Amino acid sequence: MPSVQDPPTQSLPADEKLANMRKESQAPGGSTRVQAQHDKGKLTARERIELLLDPGSFVEIDAFVRHKNHRFGMEKRRPLGDGVVVGHGTIEGRPVVVYSQDFTVFGGSLGKAHADKICKVLDLAIEMGVPAIGLLDSGGARIQEGIESLAGYGEIFTRNVRASGVIPQISIILGPCAGGAVYSPALTDFIIMSKETSFMFVTGPQVVKEVTGEEVSFYDLGGANIHASKSGVCHLVGETDEESIFLAKKLLSYLPQNNLEDPPIIPPPQGLSSAQALREIVPMDGSEPYNMKDVIQQIADPNTFFEIHPNWARNIIVGFIRLEGRPVGVIANQPLYLGGAIDSDASDKSSRFIRFCDAFNIPILTLVDVPGFMPGVKQETEGIIRHGAKMLFAYAEATVPKIAVILRKAFGGAYIVMSSKHLGSDMNFAWPNAEVAVMGAEGAVNILYRKQLAASKNNEQGLARFIQEFKEEFANPYQAAENGYVDKVIFPEETRAEIARALKFLDTKRLQPPKRKHGIMPV
Ligand code: HXC
Repeated sequence: MPSVQDPPTQSLPADEKLANMRKESQAPGGSTRVQAQHDKGKLTARERIELLLDPGSFVEIDAFVRHKNHRFGMEKRRPLGDGVVVGHGTIEGRPVVVYSQDFTVFGGSLGKAHADKICKVLDLAIEMGVPAIGLLDSGGARIQEGIESLAGYGEIFTRNVRASGVIPQISIILGPCAGGAVYSPALTDFIIMSKETSFMFVTGPQVVKEVTGEEVSFYDLGGANIHASKSGVCHLVGETDEESIFLAKKLLSYLPQNNLEDPPIIPPPQGLSSAQALREIVPMDGSEPYNMKDVIQQIADPNTFFEIHPNWARNIIVGFIRLEGRPVGVIANQPLYLGGAIDSDASDKSSRFIRFCDAFNIPILTLVDVPGFMPGVKQETEGIIRHGAKMLFAYAEATVPKIAVILRKAFGGAYIVMSSKHLGSDMNFAWPNAEVAVMGAEGAVNILYRKQLAASKNNEQGLARFIQEFKEEFANPYQAAENGYVDKVIFPEETRAEIARALKFLDTKRLQPPKRKHGIMPV
């Protein structure tokens, strides 16, 4: 303790001290580690923030936070910022909060001070109603801090849950993300991964080998390709850090700032197509497959289709479009994969997307060409009953404007689940060649007339006649239209204009579901 007689200690002038600390906080890991980061093809935490935000808009907070750990000699290593850069800024002029983990400081590992910084900006994001974006690059729980680090994760998870459905949350994985650390991104709305430099797993290759004997590389266990095509954990993949960050910005351009705002409308481009090409894209007679993405492109404003989860559960398509400038969430069967049948993954993919759109006031457009739910032992034992129920739940629960167009087939339970009127869809259209039925004509006839067909000498002819009769009765949209289950039968070339008119009309939709704490979604 200094006494009053002691000469004053030599200290820097106040301005100089602040300037020095600011400088130090810019690269607390040192130039060697920055170089190592660049050598791996990765950007630094600050370079990433610069790319993400409008130039000059970043306001950093907590740059001088240090950890308080005194174990394992950590008291001698207390870099400014504690391995994460946090603050707020703007993207296309709209405010966001951001945190960016700095791998050059303790491998971006998460201690309590590091976690507190992330929690602070997440709290700000919730209170201000602005999106939260995490740039993750971390060795996980900071080993020297033990339980305090785990406590930090728990605090972040709680914020992620509190923010869910209130503000959009995007996680961009740009390096390691291992152990329980994966659960923060998993609780956010979208995960974007860099193709070569990121990986996510709960238990790494070493532990996997010890426990199950399987030998697997980091990237085969948790690389971007695996998560974007097999597990469904990852929504979008960027080739590089730059592209991953660009994808996040593009995604945000379709989203409102929070659940109380409408999504941003931009002036629609001039000279839009009249969707004449739809007739050529979708073979009207017959059941040849076509690419549903071509249909979406024709309906959307030019170059506005932004697909989510493009490589997972490819039998269903989800993504955002703009229609006359308004963001719309699209869910569409894809006849090119599994004939467009709905399986467990397709159910999970679409349910999640529907709930996101509903939470953030984004109208939902459903394009239907579906032969049914996917049959098979694998599907039944995987629980297609449980997964399919999520989709029903999500559609029936959604109160945003819901519009559906039946292009060709809408059979059985899959007819109901794909935004039917019975689930509260607002405006349902069908093309003249649409078939709305319990099942396809061939299947139906084989069940209904099995005995007659077996007894008949001229089996082939009988079958053809029965199929023809069935088609005339049911394989059209008119039984549905007669009952008001289809609001209007339209020519394909009218599709875009009808959807646009419906969207405008439904803009003022108000629907108050009964009060309850929450439903029990069959997850
Ligand atoms: C403290 C860590 C660290 C960690 C890395 N470092 N991970 N420090 N805690 N978890 C430090 C290293 O000591 C090193 O410090 C620097 O970061 C860079 O690490 P390297 O190993 O040199 O880098 P690299 O070769 O690129 O390997 C990266 C890595 C590896 C694959 C992430 O570091 C690794 O396996 N780390 C441990 C991962 C892990 O098991 N984490 C715990 C997961 S469990 P120096 O000073 O040498 O530069 C978990 C539970 C969360 O996270 C639970 C939440 C509920």
